[in-house]
Amino acid sequence: MRINIFVTLLFLFRSETLAIDEECYMTVPEIGKRFGYDSEVHLVRTTDEYILELHRFPCKNNEKCDTKSKRPIVFLQHGLLADGFSWIPNLANQSAGFVFADAGFDVWIANSRGTPASQKHIGYGPENQKFWNFTWQQMSEYDLTSSVDYVLKETKQKFLYYLGHSQGTMIMFSRLAENPEFAKKIRHFHALAPVATVSHIGGLFGLFGKQFLTYAEILLGRLPYSPLSIPRPIQKMISYMCSKFLMQSICTLDIGFIDGNEKQFNQSRVGVYLCHTPAATSVKDLQHWIQLVESQNVAKFDYGPVGNQLEYGQPTPPVYDLTQIKTPTYLYWSGDDILADTQDIRDSILSKMNKAIAGSIELPHYSHMDFVFGINAAKDLYPGIIKTIQDDFDKYRISQMHKLNKYF
Ligand SMILES: *[C@@H]1O[C@H](CO)[C@@H](O)[C@H](O)[C@H]1NC(C)=O
Ligand SMILES: *[C@@H]1O[C@H](CO)[C@@H](O)[C@H](O)[C@H]1NC(C)=O
Ligand SMILES: *[C@@H]1O[C@H](CO)[C@@H](O)[C@H](O)[C@H]1NC(C)=O
Repeated sequence: MRINIFVTLLFLFRSETLAIDEECYMTVPEIGKRFGYDSEVHLVRTTDEYILELHRFPCKNNEKCDTKSKRPIVFLQHGLLADGFSWIPNLANQSAGFVFADAGFDVWIANSRGTPASQKHIGYGPENQKFWNFTWQQMSEYDLTSSVDYVLKETKQKFLYYLGHSQGTMIMFSRLAENPEFAKKIRHFHALAPVATVSHIGGLFGLFGKQFLTYAEILLGRLPYSPLSIPRPIQKMISYMCSKFLMQSICTLDIGFIDGNEKQFNQSRVGVYLCHTPAATSVKDLQHWIQLVESQNVAKFDYGPVGNQLEYGQPTPPVYDLTQIKTPTYLYWSGDDILADTQDIRDSILSKMNKAIAGSIELPHYSHMDFVFGINAAKDLYPGIIKTIQDDFDKYRISQMHKLNKYF
């Protein structure tokens, strides 16, 4: 029965000329090229043998440039169920990836393990269960460290500026808390919609109550070590339906259910957003997030008392100590963001990281996805970040020149 409906739908969609936007089928570098940006693909081999794609926009719009020249590097790390596309969802002057390139930065876009661009491993492919045995903890321990090392080696620079969205902030919070050597490579941490405990996820709690999480956990527990993704043809079909005028409000409501309001999205591009988002991740990653909500702790993955003993040598998973973070950190948040809750930010991030907080900037009426998908972000949000980084990089350059002068 269900297959019948599926076949009928497929038939319907085949018989009509598919009005799917070309960008649906494009990768990040291809979309970059389409908008007039020189783009590069780099492969990074992590120490646990995953192969990740890094995408680079080294030059400004319609320019060729000396890719070896020393410019500030911005490293863009996407969030949960997203990939590098998060940074280029809109037109050239509205998307972070392009706006930073036009400001003269060397832009590197990460794609975490499990996303479409990074489903490769030296020993086994994504068809093997072992491939999906990861959460953001491994993205932090392996993907982040290997990628940052790669970028610094490739550009012969000592540090970079990191911009993370949502889960992308968690990946960095946890790394900085654990590894002071790594922290030296991160000049600034710009945290968009930061999540470092998620005990107040208003949207999910509000809609389903706490029981929802228990059900979700049981359901996910039945399929451990599998990918969490929508099959490509179905995702295309959703995207197609949502790009139809009447469907748009229904589809953004759907996104809205996870993300609060959605008034900043470009309604006519919703089809393109939905082609790339949600992107694949592991079921285990979602399980880890549910654990955080329940424990109200930023801790490593909980394998249960016996498993934790084997994995960590203690009965409970180690908790990340955010008070260890010294890297200048800028938080960008909004009272309207139901995922990165204001009270969470106050309780867990601000109070623990007191000394490292270099700025805490509240944005009016930003939903969780508006920080990257919102068409106003290029007016409200990115210019401030660009100025902060540029000023710092200039200061660094001058201090280097003074050092040189002492020798001559
Ligand atoms: C997944 O990783 C955990 C922790 O390293 C390990 O104990 C477990 O055996 C792994 N499971 C699979 C199926 O690879
Ligand atoms: C929305 O996207 C379309 C292209 O898909 C573009 O023509 C239009 O100008 C965009 N609207 C806004 C408000 O940016
Ligand atoms: C982007 O460009 C369009 C048209 O060129 C302009 O109307 C709009 O204000 C620009 N947006 C930003 C954020 O600069």
